[in-house]
Amino acid sequence: MGRMRISIINDGTLGTDDLEALSGQVDAEIAVYDNQDGIKKVTAGYDLVMVSISDAEKAFKKGELDRGRLIAYGHPDDLERALMLGAIDFLPQPVDIDNLLYALKKAVILASSRNIVSRDKSTEQASKGHVVTVYSPSGGIGKTMLAVNLAITFARQFGQKVVLVDLNLQFPGVDLMLNLSPARTIIDLLSRIDNLDNEFLESFLMRHSSGIRVLPASQRPEDSERVSDRDIRSIIDALKKNGYLVVIDSSSNLNDNMLAALDCSNNILLVTSLELLALRNTRTCLEIMASLGYDKSKIELVLNRATNKDLGVRVEDAENLLGECFIAQMPSGGECVVKAANHGQPFVLTQPENEISKSVAKIARVVLHDEDAQIIDEQKRGALFSRIRRLFGA
Ligand SMILES: Nc1ncnc2c1ncn2[C@@H]1O[C@H](COP(=O)(O)OP(=O)(O)O)[C@@H](O)[C@H]1O
Ligand SMILES: [Mg+2]
Repeated sequence: MGRMRISIINDGTLGTDDLEALSGQVDAEIAVYDNQDGIKKVTAGYDLVMVSISDAEKAFKKGELDRGRLIAYGHPDDLERALMLGAIDFLPQPVDIDNLLYALKKAVILASSRNIVSRDKSTEQASKGHVVTVYSPSGGIGKTMLAVNLAITFARQFGQKVVLVDLNLQFPGVDLMLNLSPARTIIDLLSRIDNLDNEFLESFLMRHSSGIRVLPASQRPEDSERVSDRDIRSIIDALKKNGYLVVIDSSSNLNDNMLAALDCSNNILLVTSLELLALRNTRTCLEIMASLGYDKSKIELVLNRATNKDLGVRVEDAENLLGECFIAQMPSGGECVVKAANHGQPFVLTQPENEISKSVAKIARVVLHDEDAQIIDEQKRGALFSRIRRLFGA
């Protein structure tokens, strides 16, 4: 587990002691800011944040803080307000340095036991790779279509070193969509699982003409039983250490193997459609991910088969139901998409100007925090809060 990072935001009432010097006495990196810096800027990449109750309330309204990562300080009467915000601790003012130190030590122990320092953050420090999983609790929704085309877009348009991993271990599809005949699959990696060095991986992974590498799954459904969640973590970790941007295509089962992949992911692209059943499953999925402690910022919603036609559920209804906006809407691509799949020739290669290819490029930009990613973030936040206000009639 990596060293925990704590941001203390001093609104001026914590005194002038050298708070950063506390790093020597607590097992954490401590950064101290004044509240002029703006919480958004100072809390990027934090594990815990100590902040006054009024600044915390403002930050929650703007979506800049996560529940369960807050240590609040304020007037003794503010205890209830702090608990309402999901603070893990509350320090009544005046806060002296001994109380502060005690609170920080307690928070570090509590947070470690609850795994607030997420596994992916700690492995991220040790390696340079990045992991994007395309997931949906529904089958036939477009996961494989997106994973394949996104992987190629990362490589061709953004110059990334990409490996596409087929983690639909029972019913794989990546090989067909890329017209590959897998000579080696994940199963052949298992005997070397503790020794996946760079040289071996380079020779093992399949190469696709688009430039991406591929790790296919076995065609035999029963082989899926042979792969454990520990294997999945080891494989992903080895690929990351090798500097790959790892794109994972998944099955719709939320089993231990899938959870291992989701744990290791920096981004989860949750694909859904304008069908009520898909939306309900997506909402359940979001709730599960929240209960697992996943940062909201790592989950992005993608709408597939978006259309202006009246299907009984509008895009806005879907976003209201999910409490989150879509980062991209992929249109129904009709013939272009089906032909691409049947010929094993991804549409981002054959029809880069098609709207659906452009929507894949947009998803790639958001994941890589390129160009308009920040604008989308702002739009997401703005739209979401206006919807929440509407929902609660505020
Ligand atoms: N936006 C779209 N327009 C047209 N066809 C699509 C679209 N998205 C997916 N499809 C088709 O739907 C089928 C299921 O997609 P697939 O990616 O295999 O779903 P999943 O991996 O979620 O089971 C495939 O034949 C695919 O080509
Ligand atoms: Mg699939």
